Amino acid sequence: MSIISGLLSAEQLDQLTKLTSTLSKDQQLWVSGYLAGLGAQQGGNALAQPASAAASSQDSLTILYGSRTGNGEGLAKKALRLAEASGLKAVLKNMETFKIRDLQAEKNVLVIVSTHGDGVPPFSAQELHEYIYGKRAPKLATTNFAVLALGDSSYFQFCKTGKDFDEQLEKLGANRVAPILTCDLDFEEPAEAWINSTLTVFAEKLGSSANAVGIQSDASVGVGSEVVKYSKKNPFKAPIFERISLHGQSDERQTIHLELATDDAGLSYEPGDSAAIIPLNTKKIIDEVLQATGLDAQEEVTVNGINKTLYSALRRDLELSKITTDVVKRFLELAPNAELQKQIEDPAKFKEYLYGRDIVDLFHENPTKITAADFIKLLRPIQPRSYSISSSPAACPGELHLTVSVVNYEKSGRSKRGACSNYLSEIALEEEHVPIFIESNPNFRLPQNEETPIVMIGAGTGIAPYRAFIQHRELSEKRGKSWLFFGNRNFETEFLYQAEWHNFLKSGALSKMNVAFSRDGEKKEYVQHRLIENSAELFKWLEEGAHFYICGDMNNMAGDVQKALLKIIEKEGSLNREKAEEYITKLQREKRLQLDVY
Ligand SMILES: Cc1cc2nc3c(=O)[nH]c(=O)nc-3n(C[C@H](O)[C@H](O)[C@H](O)COP(=O)(O)OP(=O)(O)OC[C@H]3O[C@@H](n4cnc5c(N)ncnc54)[C@H](O)[C@@H]3O)c2cc1C
Ligand SMILES: Cc1cc2nc3c(=O)[nH]c(=O)nc-3n(C[C@H](O)[C@H](O)[C@H](O)COP(=O)(O)O)c2cc1C
Repeated sequence: MSIISGLLSAEQLDQLTKLTSTLSKDQQLWVSGYLAGLGAQQGGNALAQPASAAASSQDSLTILYGSRTGNGEGLAKKALRLAEASGLKAVLKNMETFKIRDLQAEKNVLVIVSTHGDGVPPFSAQELHEYIYGKRAPKLATTNFAVLALGDSSYFQFCKTGKDFDEQLEKLGANRVAPILTCDLDFEEPAEAWINSTLTVFAEKLGSSANAVGIQSDASVGVGSEVVKYSKKNPFKAPIFERISLHGQSDERQTIHLELATDDAGLSYEPGDSAAIIPLNTKKIIDEVLQATGLDAQEEVTVNGINKTLYSALRRDLELSKITTDVVKRFLELAPNAELQKQIEDPAKFKEYLYGRDIVDLFHENPTKITAADFIKLLRPIQPRSYSISSSPAACPGELHLTVSVVNYEKSGRSKRGACSNYLSEIALEEEHVPIFIESNPNFRLPQNEETPIVMIGAGTGIAPYRAFIQHRELSEKRGKSWLFFGNRNFETEFLYQAEWHNFLKSGALSKMNVAFSRDGEKKEYVQHRLIENSAELFKWLEEGAHFYICGDMNNMAGDVQKALLKIIEKEGSLNREKAEEYITKLQREKRLQLDVY
């Protein structure tokens, strides 16, 4: 009897034998590294094994990343450290500055890339993504590769860009040395295990004498920056100074201004950064969940190895206010349902189905008996929500401000509330603290030179980072000129921070402001109309080197504003469509056109 057969049941041994008999040499190596990585993460005592030195190439591994909000960049840096710690020669390359024509010369590439927009590459990955799909795409028969894709399964095009890279590199002839890893928002642990095992395979390809990297763990390193003190796992608990309604009398929609105390060097931020808040679910939805499932709030359940009441798990740990495809798939495994199954198979329609549906709807529409243990297995862990920070740390030391639109809507005969925005609008100011950490956003920054003109375009809460920008610039004596375009529904109730903007105009911190309110007149007026009306002057600012910013709604506003910008460049620059598009691409490459849209 082998040692393994003493450890495993007959069924497990049978499964293992079946699996290993189908694996290629690369796959065997990858799986061994993967298991070693898992062992190390679970505090196991995995043994370091020297990688076989079959290959003799002296090349190093290229860790090539495309990231927007820093998660992929943080992982890429972590991969570099893990590689170096195990003696594997590796270099870090950002897709944004990578020379696309060098791709063919790369022999071993670990790609780490996220997805943004609605299934599109982050800006830094766009050129390379286009290149590998274009006419000039190179043959890559001598390249080994593996892809780690970052995404969020609440988006319909989950990890699309990573999947594209994985598929297309193979089509170009490259050799996949590890299966793609598609990571959801809780990516840290699976990503680290995958990186460890994948580095082991690359070590062999490179003929490196590196130790098997599967046993490495890099827990000291946060994701998104070199050292992150506060994170999703360890948020800062911020006391609340103040909460103000920004809508005056309007009770239909609400936007709140929140002032939190940071008072701690570990929560430092820059204008343009976002804050991530970890919410508690509202008591309203918890009651509805208990009613729809018939479960007992006091029943004991286990979440992440900790025993607690179902009520506590519903309040703190699980996503209730929105459902994703994976939740519905797990539901269908428990309670097969032909009609729902049919719906899930039509992605475009299913996207519509999911919008505005929560877990309560799923049970109302498909009544099912379920145990508390099975119920919590259905759900995703609750995720932090991002908010653009609306204060400048230089102008408001020890403070961090947010501008939050409260999500309340009617659907399927129920009134529904967004989890985080309602948590922030209801939280007891004196007694409770807000769990928060910073998400650095290096792609939404004021120009280095303070004298450079800026044009800020935003709708609704898209105004938030501009308040931070102008607070910051107000402190500078040599500030350049600045122009704000702001849109919302009604002048009277939804002109967010109106008095402050007028003061900024008076002080000269803001040079110009144009506003558009879509529901005040007969005709709908949006920010893009104001841009077109100011076409000649805007182009002049552009030619003078102004930086352009777009913030707020991704689905309509951002696209319409970019179309308006294209028209302005065509008209005022007397350029054809192609040349105007090139002008915009150049602006993006020079980081003079920056977007923060959601
Ligand atoms: C980088 C970034 C910056 C952001 N900055 C800000 C900011 O400064 N201010 C701000 O307010 N938000 C901002 N957001 C959005 C914010 O992160 C949250 O998504 C938002 O507050 C909603 O979260 P919630 O938990 O309240 O709602 P959730 O519980 O997440 O519910 C949202 C879900 O409700 C449904 N839904 C919402 N409205 C409707 C409707 N009218 N009809 C039908 N269904 C609907 C949809 O299914 C939606 O997915 C930002 C997002 C990103 C990514
Ligand atoms: C505005 C926005 C749009 C996004 N769109 C998608 C998407 O379409 N598909 C997806 O899988 N993930 C999407 N995501 C999730 C990101 O890919 C995920 O947060 C990832 O960890 C970001 O990695 P990065 O910081 O390296 O860019 C989106 C995130 C944001 C903020």
